[in-house]
Amino acid sequence: MNRHIAIYPSVMCSKPWDLKDYVNVFDKTGVDGIHFDVMDGHFVPNITLGTIDFNMIRSITDMPMNVHFMVERPEVIIPYFELKENDMCAFHPEATRQPHSLLLSLKSRNIKAGLAISPATSIDYIENCLDVLDFILVMAVNPGFGGQKMVANHLSKLEKIKALADKAAHKIEIIVDGNTTLENAKLMLKAGADSFVVGNSSIMKDGPEKFQENYKLYLERLQK
Ligand code: DX5
Ligand code: ZN
Repeated sequence: MNRHIAIYPSVMCSKPWDLKDYVNVFDKTGVDGIHFDVMDGHFVPNITLGTIDFNMIRSITDMPMNVHFMVERPEVIIPYFELKENDMCAFHPEATRQPHSLLLSLKSRNIKAGLAISPATSIDYIENCLDVLDFILVMAVNPGFGGQKMVANHLSKLEKIKALADKAAHKIEIIVDGNTTLENAKLMLKAGADSFVVGNSSIMKDGPEKFQENYKLYLERLQK
């Protein structure tokens, strides 16, 4: 029996006028959550979706949100978003002075807590927060933009992260974010990935009308 591979489509890859159609097709398709990228123009050289987009999406679907904060001082920004139980929230540990306590504060609200690890970020953060991590968002690209290419050290780093996550007494979901094309995703699965954020590089490249077909094909070919 094929294991479940969770898929989190990245709405920053949607054209603004397609957003509602995408959310409706995500619901229909049964994706595992909506990947919502927040960028502040400081931690990364880009600005994307904000609280208005978040609340609009929240108002038309009950799907969990998989929120990726690429911001300085995430402890200040996260409260602006109406996160609720079962949402997933990841931030970059180097962007805050107290990553462990921020993870704890998320868990105290029954929000799944994760660290987003860029290509150059030390995996010591994972080792030191292992007891409070629900998931790890492993960046296969440098954060800030969709449609980039996987960096050279990603797969070997992913293997190291998987080995660390396996040391925990509980299951820590390993989600890869960035350039998760079918070819790359097959290699990422072998290197230890459980789940994928999908954006311009893969399932979302043909618009909402093709999403369901692309999603089905992607999973079928990934399971082969
Ligand atoms: C990039 C974002 C990703 C990106 C994924 O900083 O975190 O979620 O939108 O897009 P692709 O799949 O095209 O790399
Ligand atoms: Zn992301």
